[in-house]
Amino acid sequence: MATPFAGKQILFGITGGIAAYKAADWIRALRQDGAEVTVIMTEAATKFVTPLTFAALSGHPVECDIFTSTNPESIPHISLAKQCDLLLIAPATANTIARLANGMADTLLGCIALATRAPVLIFPAMNSAMYLHPASQRNIERCKEIHYTIIPPACGAMACGDQGPGRLPEWPCAQAAIATALSPQDLANQHFLVTAGPTQEPLDPVRFLSNRSTGKMGYALARAAKERGAIVTLVSGPTAIPPPWGVKLVEVRTALEMQQAVSEHYPTATVIIKSAAVSDFRLTQSSPQKIKKNSAEATTLGLTANPDILLELGNRKGASTSPILVGFAAESDQHLEEGQRKLLQKNLDLIVVNDILGHDTGFASDTNQITIIDKNGGQTPLPLLSKDETAHRVLDRIKHMLNS
Ligand SMILES: Cc1cc2nc3c(=O)[nH]c(=O)nc-3n(C[C@H](O)[C@H](O)[C@H](O)COP(=O)(O)O)c2cc1C
Repeated sequence: MATPFAGKQILFGITGGIAAYKAADWIRALRQDGAEVTVIMTEAATKFVTPLTFAALSGHPVECDIFTSTNPESIPHISLAKQCDLLLIAPATANTIARLANGMADTLLGCIALATRAPVLIFPAMNSAMYLHPASQRNIERCKEIHYTIIPPACGAMACGDQGPGRLPEWPCAQAAIATALSPQDLANQHFLVTAGPTQEPLDPVRFLSNRSTGKMGYALARAAKERGAIVTLVSGPTAIPPPWGVKLVEVRTALEMQQAVSEHYPTATVIIKSAAVSDFRLTQSSPQKIKKNSAEATTLGLTANPDILLELGNRKGASTSPILVGFAAESDQHLEEGQRKLLQKNLDLIVVNDILGHDTGFASDTNQITIIDKNGGQTPLPLLSKDETAHRVLDRIKHMLNS
């Protein structure tokens, strides 16, 4: 599958809360991710931000009223409700949540919520006392009973100066929740263990041996698996990118730390994807003091081979069918032959091979071009794709294996 947002029709309901202005950024981000956005505003919302702002950002007229349409061929609340893949309401006021909980149809948004069969995702945002009031909590529970998904508000300082739950969550959290609502939950109940990033092998307190891996591919895999319903543990070497929302992050530095973290999480994993670029060597003896420029250690480094974590996992798995074991091979020449050799040697189910010298592929790039090789020698070359889309293609393949 492509990324969850690509080509999706999102109806974005905005209600009369102080956080309405934040919806502007969300709309831009959704469009950047490839979604089509149509905005519906309550009358109160138009007191905070004008419809013109959201029309300009979404590229579509903004609908605010049930009775303004003069088009005899379409009744707006029905046609909008039928077309959308998701009804997203952010910020959702206490008032709108009360109306939704009771199935009221006296606003355009209320009518659409009743008329649509698409998932409904609600982001409550209000003063914390309002949010924690038993009436609001009861209304939220009622919304859950009718299968609306409620994303709890973030905690922090409110516009009114109070502290507590009630803030509209930041975009990474919202993005993850929206992506999940738009994705088939076809990896639900699977436990993915994903490794990502480089390792760092210390030479002394200030220097280390490492490589050019940024973790982008592994993080994309972890994010995509989470969106599709999996429980995800991400064992990551040092990277500069934020962890995907909702995954359990285990931070490690060296190959030995990564080996231990992977080994600890092995028993619960149903799928293991090893996309980290683990250093093949570490210093036989790292120096507790900074190595001086003119010392003998400065010109000669004694190296010891690090454990081959993937080989160990393959041996541990043996003839068992679980967990599914997926390796990554970053090669600069003979990459398919090398991939095939590693797949057999390490007892893998799949290996994903990429040519690190290729244009727009490999380390640091936002795109990748891979070939997936399976146990039977079958090779599936993919075109140049974003790392997010590449991740979904790899997961499609894993899902196929899980089903069979
Ligand atoms: C300055 C101001 C800020 C407000 N902020 C919020 C808010 O963040 N959350 C909320 O539930 N209500 C808030 N309200 C109250 C709503 O605007 C009010 O309940 C309104 O009837 C909501 O209508 P709607 O749900 O149809 O948009 C605010 C009101 C004012 C005047």
